[in-house]
Amino acid sequence: MPNSKPILTTRQGHPVHNNQQQRTVGSRGPATLENYHFLEKISHFDRERIPERVVHARGFVAHGEFEAYGTIGDQPASTYTRAKLFQTRGKTPVTIRFSTVIGGRDSSEAARDPRGFAVKFRTDDGNWDMVGNNLQVFFIRDAIKFPDVIHSLKPDPVTFRQEPNRIFDFMSNTPESMHMLTWLFSPYGIPKNYRTMRGSGVNTYRFVNAGGEGVLVKFHWLTQQGEHNLTQAEADAIQATDLGHASKDLYEAIERGEYPQWELNVQIMSDDEHPELDFDPLDDTKIWPEEQFPYLPVGMMTLNRNITDHHNENEQIAFGTGVLVDGIDFSDDKMLAGRTFSYSDTQRYRVGPNYLQLPVNRPREDVPVSTNQTGGQMSYGVDNRGENPHINFEPSSVAGLAEADESYREYRPFVSGQIMKAPIERQNNYAQAGRRYREMADWQRDDLILNLVTNLSQCDKHLQEKMVWHFSQCDEEYGRRVAEGLGISVNA
Ligand code: HEM
Repeated sequence: MPNSKPILTTRQGHPVHNNQQQRTVGSRGPATLENYHFLEKISHFDRERIPERVVHARGFVAHGEFEAYGTIGDQPASTYTRAKLFQTRGKTPVTIRFSTVIGGRDSSEAARDPRGFAVKFRTDDGNWDMVGNNLQVFFIRDAIKFPDVIHSLKPDPVTFRQEPNRIFDFMSNTPESMHMLTWLFSPYGIPKNYRTMRGSGVNTYRFVNAGGEGVLVKFHWLTQQGEHNLTQAEADAIQATDLGHASKDLYEAIERGEYPQWELNVQIMSDDEHPELDFDPLDDTKIWPEEQFPYLPVGMMTLNRNITDHHNENEQIAFGTGVLVDGIDFSDDKMLAGRTFSYSDTQRYRVGPNYLQLPVNRPREDVPVSTNQTGGQMSYGVDNRGENPHINFEPSSVAGLAEADESYREYRPFVSGQIMKAPIERQNNYAQAGRRYREMADWQRDDLILNLVTNLSQCDKHLQEKMVWHFSQCDEEYGRRVAEGLGISVNA
């Protein structure tokens, strides 16, 4: 066979003549130390892993495009937002990472766990990340509780086993988690695969239009493949033989040319506290009821290209809730503010301080990145500093960079109030969980009860009783059925 393969080299570009043996004195050794090729190869191998994500360690990435409709519902998109990507019918490249939350990098994709749904839009105005999940809500509403909820769900710090007793100890002291738990222990807690699940931004954002007016907005991705979930028995059969069925399904569908699609929809609310609602619109443990806040279609996402390297495009990709473009802004949601610190903080540690120079994370090639940020570990690119590279500060009378014009002025909400540590007023922890319970199909409700009973039966009796009490607050029948399954009394 003719030798048409590229010649193997070291990272220094030196052609390698022998990749089978190290340099030794004679064929039996001892080995010599000046063996640069061997040392480079083995020491690079020793450093092949970066720390896995503290949550969402297992995931899968694909690339594609988002096509905006130019409208939001029956209005021109400009009514609500000046974000350029929505203004006309047009395409924006996207990269998406689907994930599970609690397991490690090689864990089962059939686990009962929320699924991450993170989308990076590579827009004309730089990147916009929407970092969401498939369940529309979350366990907690204040970012300060995030390390605690995750510690309870992660393996025990001594036995390294996920323990229902630890999970329900935390949850039974966290009434706001009942809505999320009702989704999670139903079939929605194990989507059939990534293609057949929906996504939601969960936290509340703001749209800002050219007139500087803001509205509250929630984002939703509706799967065009049909929504399908698994029962625990179906999931158990899959994970008995395959821990990565969802990644495989997505990868193979794209290879076959069956490109999955999701339609982006938004719900819009005027930007105020809405005292008429029985919940706080900024509370991420709540859904905005669709009959009051209809879904308005915005555009369609199609995934049509697989990654070429898992480490570069999956391990090193970095999403964050602070990565917004002009026209999309933060709301006062205090959970969102906490998340926004956490993502880029962990990425500076996990990937490195120059993570934004990596091709998978930096904005599109044709979008200028002009900053005076310089140096740091693994820096290799220099951002545009204008015509005079000596000026790496601003302002300068000589050269350098200029601030953007008034059209990019940030939204300026007026805020006043006493600084405090306090819970929100309209907590209403049970009503939407009860509604969810009642709206399920019979088989979904049966599955929910079965899954809760299976897990709670491994817990101490006082936790079982506490959880039954919470479920009874959601819906009398809900509590009663869990109690019956556990063989305990509702009023115990
Ligand atoms: C205060 C609450 C939260 C905090 C502090 C937090 C923090 C984090 C951290 C530190 C990571 C790892 C990021 C990385 O290593 O690149 C992460 C990943 C992620 N989080 Fe959160 N999170 C919070 C709530 C949420 C919520 C409510 C959602 C869903 C709406 C969510 C969705 C995700 C997703 C999808 C990822 C994976 C991103 C990827 O694929 O790389 N998180 N989160």
